[in-house]
Amino acid sequence: TKTLTILGLESSCDDTAAAVVRQPEGARPEILSSVVFGQTELHSAFGGVVPEIAARAHAEKLDICVRDALADSGLALKDMDAVAVTAGPGLIGGVMSGVMCAKGIAAATGLPLVGVNHLAGHALTPRLTDGTAYPYLMLLVSGGHCQYLLVRGPEDFTRLGGTIDDAPGEAFDKTARLLGLPQPGGPAVQAEAESGDPERFRFPRPLLDRPDCNLSFSGLKTALMRMRDQIAAEKGGLTRQDRADLCAGFQAAVVDTLAEKTRRAIRLYLEEQPARPTVAVAGGVAANTAIRTALEIVCAEAGAAFTAPPLRLCTDNAAMIAYAGLERFKSGARDELDLTARPRWPL
Ligand code: KG4
Ligand code: ZN
Repeated sequence: TKTLTILGLESSCDDTAAAVVRQPEGARPEILSSVVFGQTELHSAFGGVVPEIAARAHAEKLDICVRDALADSGLALKDMDAVAVTAGPGLIGGVMSGVMCAKGIAAATGLPLVGVNHLAGHALTPRLTDGTAYPYLMLLVSGGHCQYLLVRGPEDFTRLGGTIDDAPGEAFDKTARLLGLPQPGGPAVQAEAESGDPERFRFPRPLLDRPDCNLSFSGLKTALMRMRDQIAAEKGGLTRQDRADLCAGFQAAVVDTLAEKTRRAIRLYLEEQPARPTVAVAGGVAANTAIRTALEIVCAEAGAAFTAPPLRLCTDNAAMIAYAGLERFKSGARDELDLTARPRWPL
């Protein structure tokens, strides 16, 4: 029997990460190490991720991440079966840094190289954490993406619907920016919303009049701006409570929209796969506890199983890249040293 051990690298946005994942044949995969260097402080003064700063920080940190991930796993490069790396989609400078680092390792050691789609990394995470079997319905919600996927295999994804404009994470980040809260906006808005009244401000629930599972989040920003400016015009500024109420109202709109569209995605999924569905959620926004709770309720009502990775595996990490690489490698996929970084790469 063959045990596969994969080193994974991730550098497509503002986290530099390396991890080692191992799977003995016929057994569940295991995360031997997972190192993440966040760049939040580097970008905080700019109100968002600055691609040049991100790329330079990735280039500086990748070697250290790899060294630490190997040390934490108690293994060395010679114990790896392959090196997997995010080859896109993402900020091109960062993706290139990771791809070049992985190529360097592959060239120096002779290890096979496996390029991984970052979105596939998120989408396969429930298999890593819960052993979720194919097929399943994946709601991928992050800072750059929002889609419902029917997942049938490591490279077999059917898009059932998704956002027609902003991703929900983007909406959380913009909301934070408009209210003077720190980036990334998701955790900050969630924390404010906890002491807010979700009923005071009524945000729109876009596209609920349509029967499909497409979503739209760009209208929330416009609504928020209008409400904020109206309060400011009436009272000369926002109080702490105003801000909390705006966050709560905004979050409630995102929660309601995702809940209702998930009901419809389950219906669409059942047309393709008429068996009790498993609904999995992944991506940075899946760290939101209000969203997780709402989806759990929707699934219970629809008779579907629900699974969500632990929070640290919802946001960007390299364990998901190592695991997606492991699945690709197992199915025979290999990349050559001409593997290129792709800023855009739909699943
Ligand atoms: O998946 P991810 O780490 O990066 C990519 O976009 O690929 O997701 C980051 C996004 C950010 O927009 C961040 O604000 C959002 O996930 N996020 C959250 C929460 N934690 C992170 N959004 C809502 N609630 C949270 N608790
Ligand atoms: Zn991501």
